[in-house]
Amino acid sequence: MAVQLDSLVQGEGSIVSRELFWRPDIYELELERIFAKSWAFLCHESQIPNKGDFFSTYIGEDSVLVVRQADGSIRAFLNVCRHRGMKISTADEGNVRSFTCTYHGWTFDLGGALVSVPNIEKSFNGRLRTEDWSLQPVSKLENYRGLIFGNFDPEAVSLKEYLGDMALYLDLLLDREGGTEVYGGVQKWRVQTNWKIPAENFVTDGMHLAPTHTAAVLALAPEEFDVTKVPGFGTSTYFTSTGHGGVVNDADAESQRRGLNAMLGPALAEYYYGLAERLRPKYGAMASYVHNIGSATIFPNFSWLAGRQTLRVWHPKGPQETEVWTWTLVNSECSEELKKQQRRTSVQTFGPSGIFEQDDAENWSQCTATMRGYVGRKLTMPYLAGQDNGDAKHPGKTLSAGNGGASEGAGRSFYRHWLQVMTSRGR
Ligand code: FES
Ligand SMILES: [Fe+2]
Repeated sequence: MAVQLDSLVQGEGSIVSRELFWRPDIYELELERIFAKSWAFLCHESQIPNKGDFFSTYIGEDSVLVVRQADGSIRAFLNVCRHRGMKISTADEGNVRSFTCTYHGWTFDLGGALVSVPNIEKSFNGRLRTEDWSLQPVSKLENYRGLIFGNFDPEAVSLKEYLGDMALYLDLLLDREGGTEVYGGVQKWRVQTNWKIPAENFVTDGMHLAPTHTAAVLALAPEEFDVTKVPGFGTSTYFTSTGHGGVVNDADAESQRRGLNAMLGPALAEYYYGLAERLRPKYGAMASYVHNIGSATIFPNFSWLAGRQTLRVWHPKGPQETEVWTWTLVNSECSEELKKQQRRTSVQTFGPSGIFEQDDAENWSQCTATMRGYVGRKLTMPYLAGQDNGDAKHPGKTLSAGNGGASEGAGRSFYRHWLQVMTSRGR
């Protein structure tokens, strides 16, 4: 069956077919047209500080190694031996002088050049030119304030152009005196869901906050917490015309402060309020986004939460499975105590043991499970909230549904862009 993509996303992203979330042929096209051509977050530079340090990750389903070179630069290449395709490293991370394939012993240097083949003279008699069989490099690599991004497409636009207006929101996460660093290891686990469902949740879904998470908020809150003062969870979205965006909580300042105190603990919450004040001369009112209880996604599958400082990649593992990777990002200027508290709160709320993430993952896997039925998978879904504000005309702006409601403007933008890329009308 040929894929008729245009009929699957209608009304400028306001009606989306559930077929996007289960069809294997659509998933295969996504690997080709989205993941092999998009900028992907690979790791933070602090994870590979020394010569020979490497970190193993994925772009789409392609296994990739990110390696610190002898001259301090960073390179990345496919983790695929050029002989028979064995992984040249099966470790998650480490430090090496070179990579030796465990199958037939070919050895590649830190830059990916093939430098040794066992018995090369006797076996190949001059027919194997080692310079022809280097590791396949990731075509483009860029460092944005410590985050390393890679792209397999040699024709890709620069990362700056790719991020567009979204760079401002990354700056609000990363522009710190003394920089940022990853604290602790990467948590990895699998959820039975299509990768777009969590990416969409982080780009646009303010609507789920109260129904899904109120019990978790109350579990974290101090005993004297007044249940009737749980904020209304009205949210706005902001977005670019290229599928990036996020959610901003519209709750009043006092409710926000109570929520942040409950989630981060008073010392860390106060640190963020102080940080926002320091950033205010540069970013104006936007400075409060450093502690606003919101979320964000860079198309296609890199997300984060402000305040909780959890970075995450939704690695696709087939149409109905996602491997979630999370990092805790801390500001280098923080005391060891605050960094520990950041890690603690990040792991407590989000991640495989996070009480909020448990709520979310249950929803995402059930939304995916209902697509096993033939009739259910043919339905369409509405992304209509906040549409009256004419969001298609306002990329880069914050869009509110008004009246304490939630806008799905960034979701419409996400699926509009998905369709553009999948039909090769955009990049
Ligand atoms: S597959 Fe790597 S040396 Fe043969
Ligand atoms: Fe959630």
